[in-house]
Amino acid sequence: MRIGILGTGTLARGLARAWAGHDVVIGGRSAAKAEALAAEVGARAAAPADAAREADAVLLAVAWEGVDDMLGLAAPPPGTVLIDPVNAVEHGVGVLLPPTSAAEHIAATAPGTHVVKAFHLFPAAQWTSGTAVTVPICGDDERALATVSALVTDTGSQATVVGGLSSARQLEEVAGFVINLAFRGVDPQSAVPRVA
Ligand SMILES: NC(=O)c1ccc[n+]([C@@H]2O[C@H](COP(=O)([O-])OP(=O)(O)OC[C@H]3O[C@@H](n4cnc5c(N)ncnc54)[C@H](OP(=O)(O)O)[C@@H]3O)[C@@H](O)[C@H]2O)c1
Repeated sequence: MRIGILGTGTLARGLARAWAGHDVVIGGRSAAKAEALAAEVGARAAAPADAAREADAVLLAVAWEGVDDMLGLAAPPPGTVLIDPVNAVEHGVGVLLPPTSAAEHIAATAPGTHVVKAFHLFPAAQWTSGTAVTVPICGDDERALATVSALVTDTGSQATVVGGLSSARQLEEVAGFVINLAFRGVDPQSAVPRVA
């Protein structure tokens, strides 16, 4: 697959490494950072709009505060499979910042794209850890969900579709809950029931 990665930070690095068998194109607001990361992970660098064009999937790996700016720079064309891993939460307490889900905000800001919420719940190191987890994802387009499920498989884990994009708020609240517990010094896995 050809994968566009928008962003040059920790998550961009982790998933670029996990998807090393693909044609990965990295675009950041800083061309120098995109070139440095691309050289590090064996990918190509391009301007955000070029990274987002003709990609089988595009990962929006930027901070919540930069989402609108990056979507403006990249302008992903209608039909793009747009992966949203964004945690739009208040640092330390996990309270969600936008009134709607970040995923629905992204879908409204990039009209015609097929947004899939994915990769938001685990730390970036997960994707090259070799340990399999279940990755809950949601979205409204079956083809986009299949594409993202395949990309989850490429990280050594498996995706589970939990619903349409209207389920994104629930997935984002789970991340907020996990972040809240973690900052309180509690292992989040100890706070959910084990269901047979
Ligand atoms: N790291 C994780 O373990 C993890 C796990 C799950 C989800 N996430 C989510 O993934 C996203 C990226 O996280 P990260 O850890 O990779 O963050 P990071 O290392 O801080 O990188 C943030 C990226 O966002 C870019 N950015 C910030 N403001 C921008 C703006 N106004 N316009 C364009 N680009 C902007 C930064 O560009 P500059 O370098 O030029 O500032 C950088 O490329 C976040 O939404 C985060 O919630 C991260």
